[in-house]
Amino acid sequence: MDKKQKREKRLNLIGMSCGLFLALLLVINVGTDVVARAASANAQTLTASAPGKVGDVTVEVKADAKKIYEVKVIEHNETEGIGTMAVDAIPGLIVEKQSLTVDAVSGATITSDAIRDAVALALQSGGLNSEAYGYAAPEIAAKPMAHKVETGTGVKLLHAVDWKDQYPDQYNTWMMTSESDDIDDYLEVYPMLRGLYEGYGFAIDYGSARGHYYDVQDIEATGRPHPLANCWTCKTPDFTHMVNEEGIEAYKKDWTEVQSQITEGISCYTCHANTPGEITITHTYWIDAVGDDFENIAPADLACGQCHNEYYFHPETKATTIAHNSLASMDPATMLAFFNDGSNFPSGEPFADWTNPRTGVKQIKVQHPEFETYLGAGSPHAGTFTCADCHMPDAVNANGEAYHSHNLMSPLDNPELIANTCSACHFDLVKEVHDLQDKVETRTYTVGYRLEYLTELLAQAVASEKYTDEQLDPIRSLARDAQFYWDFDKADELCAEATSQILALTR
Ligand code: HEC
Ligand code: HEC
Ligand code: HEC
Ligand code: HEC
Repeated sequence: MDKKQKREKRLNLIGMSCGLFLALLLVINVGTDVVARAASANAQTLTASAPGKVGDVTVEVKADAKKIYEVKVIEHNETEGIGTMAVDAIPGLIVEKQSLTVDAVSGATITSDAIRDAVALALQSGGLNSEAYGYAAPEIAAKPMAHKVETGTGVKLLHAVDWKDQYPDQYNTWMMTSESDDIDDYLEVYPMLRGLYEGYGFAIDYGSARGHYYDVQDIEATGRPHPLANCWTCKTPDFTHMVNEEGIEAYKKDWTEVQSQITEGISCYTCHANTPGEITITHTYWIDAVGDDFENIAPADLACGQCHNEYYFHPETKATTIAHNSLASMDPATMLAFFNDGSNFPSGEPFADWTNPRTGVKQIKVQHPEFETYLGAGSPHAGTFTCADCHMPDAVNANGEAYHSHNLMSPLDNPELIANTCSACHFDLVKEVHDLQDKVETRTYTVGYRLEYLTELLAQAVASEKYTDEQLDPIRSLARDAQFYWDFDKADELCAEATSQILALTR
């Protein structure tokens, strides 16, 4: 049932129960205060939950057949300052008006509805009729859940062209990711990168992302070395399917050998396996990366998280691997602690993507942790909007059928989404986002140049051959951590600390 149908259904119920409500009022009003108090003594205390914006909202209701005496929200995870407005206001209003049809708190409709739903379910659980209060108890639909790909089944991979006729809207919009075609040269935009990534492929060639349509072309054109097939991980279902059929040995294959078998970029199989419309997670390492939280994460978030994450290649198996195994372990500090703990790796040493040849710092390159930034570190929108809500616009085809555009676009280029959804809270979303991006950009340069300065000081200290590793290693380790945080986009205290230590040592 879509939102409109739900709304209509509710309106009908309100109309229907109005008569009932009046009749009830008559009955209640004949009674005296004493009767009312006596009735309250017979009230039941009932609890129930309904899904809010972020997990369930649980209420405790004190009521009998005639009256709701008290409503309390006893558990919730709604957004502070938004959902909590409904948590504070709605229970009191329900009791005051003796109605579940009280106005939703503006900007917190989902939380308001969740409280109503939970109260209606609580009444129902005590054999009381919520429709007497103008509102039917909802049928709680099972939460949509992603599927996990089945491996080693010998099933044939179906490509996008195989679905072209059956799903022309999704197919055609999927092709439209070709419209976003420009690339920024990050080495020009952020000149400090050549020094900070020295000794690593990203110091040679580092272009910004563009439309999914180009991903195979772009990996083929990159100047970065990519000896092994594991570099195909986030590019094509042809390789994903190979891993799913042959096992993780496939990651160790020769990159060029696999290249000849690649027929398409990111495609239907990537997010749907062979059943378009159902979300199936086909990248198995990503299933491990979220662990038991798999069921709590929206399917669309899981689908995008398969590649928009921070990964590393396992030093021994060369398999694409993720440094976390739950939502709680994907914040930068916990991931860094994982990389720094040698017992997690076959060598017994902390993990390093490469060693800077001039400073001897064992560095980690953070990839593209969109999923971790959004759901791990925590955005106010985590649990409210999925990646698809903001990047896959709602569309309607010529026959009036609704579908999701598969042209992944910026929400800032989607005026309908902004007007219908975002402007409930954002006065000028485009400006707010641009201001935020300016702030992040400024920090990236400021801290980036500080890191570059630190790198030069360290390189000079090493070149002078005046200092022992015992003296330099603690500073190297601070520099490693500082660069990790900078790459992940975080504060620069570690960089300042390392810089003051190297200055103290070398002066
Ligand atoms: C199989 C891996 C994979 C999956 C799954 C994936 N992406 Fe991507 N995404 C990429 C790669 C690789 C690029 C960069 C492509 C290039 O530059 O050639 C990219 C680029 C992007 C960009 C930048 C596009 C531009 O025009 O600048 C956006 C936005 C994006 N992805 C969003 C999403 C969303 C939303 C989802 C989920 C619906 C998703 N991606 C799922 C791998 C993936
Ligand atoms: C990067 C991931 C991704 C890729 C690639 C992808 N889809 Fe989807 N698809 C989604 C998501 C996410 C949704 C559902 C959005 C939601 O419900 O939040 C979806 C929904 C659908 C639906 C349900 C109807 C709709 O539009 O909501 C169909 C059918 C579908 N996709 C077909 C396809 C076909 C065919 C292809 C290949 C041409 C494809 N998809 C490629 C992620 C993807
Ligand atoms: C609340 C809305 C919202 C949600 C949810 C969201 N994003 Fe975004 N995303 C944005 C905005 C806004 C931008 C900046 C776009 C711009 O600058 O035009 C952005 C930018 C991006 C980019 C960079 C595109 C580029 O051109 O480089 C990627 C990649 C991306 N998002 C992926 C994701 C993924 C993956 C998820 C889910 C884990 C996600 N987003 C969830 C709003 C959202
Ligand atoms: C219910 C209110 C509400 C709605 C609706 C809403 N936002 Fe937000 N949004 C917020 C709040 C609150 C913040 C945090 C502002 C702050 O920290 O200053 C925020 C922050 C953001 C940010 C900053 C990045 C982040 O995650 O902190 C982006 C981007 C964003 N919103 C995009 C969107 C988009 C796109 C939509 C529409 C699809 C939307 N918002 C709808 C309340 C809302």
